[in-house]
Amino acid sequence: MTKRKTRIGILTAGGDCPGINAAIRAVGKTAIVEYGMNVVGIINGFSGLIEKNTMPLHEQQLSGILTVGGTMLGTSRVKPFKLAEGETYPTKPILIKKHYEELELDALICIGGNGTQKTANLLAQSGMNIIGVPKTIDNDIWGTDVTFGFDTAVFVAAEAIDRLHTTANSHKRVMVIEVMGHKAGWIALYSGIAGGGDVILVPEISYDEKLIAECLLERSSKKKPYSIVVVAEGIYKDSKKTAGTYIAHRIRKMTGLETRETTLGYIQRGGSPTPADRILATGFGAHAVTLAAEKVFGTMVASRNGIITSVPLSEVGGRLKLIEQGNSLVEKGRQMGVFFGANG
Ligand code: F6P
Repeated sequence: MTKRKTRIGILTAGGDCPGINAAIRAVGKTAIVEYGMNVVGIINGFSGLIEKNTMPLHEQQLSGILTVGGTMLGTSRVKPFKLAEGETYPTKPILIKKHYEELELDALICIGGNGTQKTANLLAQSGMNIIGVPKTIDNDIWGTDVTFGFDTAVFVAAEAIDRLHTTANSHKRVMVIEVMGHKAGWIALYSGIAGGGDVILVPEISYDEKLIAECLLERSSKKKPYSIVVVAEGIYKDSKKTAGTYIAHRIRKMTGLETRETTLGYIQRGGSPTPADRILATGFGAHAVTLAAEKVFGTMVASRNGIITSVPLSEVGGRLKLIEQGNSLVEKGRQMGVFFGANG
């Protein structure tokens, strides 16, 4: 009797980002062309396994998606292990495992951020053959130097900051731009340095409003025609105001300088991935299939010192990678006069 083909499932969960379709394409093509596997697309993240909502992925479905933003499989933020109303234990994981078996999956590739990798680890511990692929614009997943989505978000944010220089200069204003990043400041740091930000505020460095005001007033006294302030959304937690709005308000109040704010929002999550993100996503997707073929389960693909490798999911699950003390880019920015909201 001929052995049936290996079947791998693939899902995308959590916030979308540019590069996910490139990763899906790499998984599918590597599985089909290199390993002769069958590929099952799971619709809308983990909810697709709960509802057994799938689509077959053949080469036909995989063509033309390399450069397309978003995820062709759809996504959701469903957290299967979170107790639902009235539950004494999580029932969704039982359904997930049942449908995984009914679909005759030999492995499941989970493309997602921190929450997804945390769920992936718990599913692996329940006996499913799981491979995680890290993705997020936030670049805050522990265990990998970088995630795809990040380079594109930095590109979009830096281009927006470039545009703010000309309007700030024309009106001699302070321009505040808020960027995404959840609890990490990577997008603000990288786009702030790339875009020539004068002040960069990140959640990892607690800021002093008075010192920010003094810095901006000193710039003004030195006849600097304008200032650019880049703010990570995670520096401030108030549902009524965004971080950028809050900081702009405080700057106006404390300095009297004409100040405007821009919140970049979901533009950082949309559109076509940069070539760097396409390459990283392709490498991650292809490596995930190799790990599955070699039955190296309970792992997450990772980029370490430019090499694509893997780390145990048990070490990653839910751990945040934040800007470390003494980060070289922060130090170099400081040496050039960029102010990070606090001295030293
Ligand atoms: O994790 C990516 C991200 O864009 C964060 O930077 C942001 O805080 C969050 O998602 C927004 O979540 P949602 O897409 O659910 O509004």
